[in-house]
Amino acid sequence: MLNIAVLVSGGGTNLQAIIDSIENGKLKDVRIVRVISNKEDAYALSRARDHGIEAKCISPKDYGERSLYFEAMAGEIREAGAELIVLAGFLVVLSKEFVTEFKGRIINIHPSLIPSFCGDGYYGLRVHEKALERGVKVTGATVHFVDEGTDTGPIIMQKAVEVKDGDTPEILQRRVMEQAEWIILPAAIQAIADGKVK
Ligand code: GAR
Repeated sequence: MLNIAVLVSGGGTNLQAIIDSIENGKLKDVRIVRVISNKEDAYALSRARDHGIEAKCISPKDYGERSLYFEAMAGEIREAGAELIVLAGFLVVLSKEFVTEFKGRIINIHPSLIPSFCGDGYYGLRVHEKALERGVKVTGATVHFVDEGTDTGPIIMQKAVEVKDGDTPEILQRRVMEQAEWIILPAAIQAIADGKVK
């Protein structure tokens, strides 16, 4: 059994995809031991609680220093016994110390085909706005290990998605979620649980 902690900041549709995959038996030998949000009002917290998963807000605002915030996060993850940390729309940049402690045990979902449209400032809807501005005909999503950089860690899985005429950032975001993110995030977790990714 692979124990995972899922870190979220918003709506939590990727978290929902993981929960659904576990409940419908597609994702095997994986258990969500904690969901942690940096925002109290993140809908992702309700999604977790609705499924009996322990969910908590740990806000940077409650800690004077960034290092104390990340110590609290690390403490919670250790206490929960999580072996893998999944960033599912978690929009806080991790500290070096945190990444070092959990090196090789943190993965992230990013809504583009890395190395396109990634790095500092590329998150959420902005990624799709930039893809449309550039006029790419194919975009997608990437699951990668997290290292000290922003979106620079080793790639685990990617899936391409077509950009269509008349797409708005919102329409493209939804298509990338449906056709790529909600598929490859559970698939990457399964691959790690099965020992197929190192
Ligand atoms: C997702 O599209 C995810 O790929 C993106 O935020 C969204 C969260 O949606 N993450 C990033 O941009 C990270 N750089 P969700 O809360 O519904 O899963």
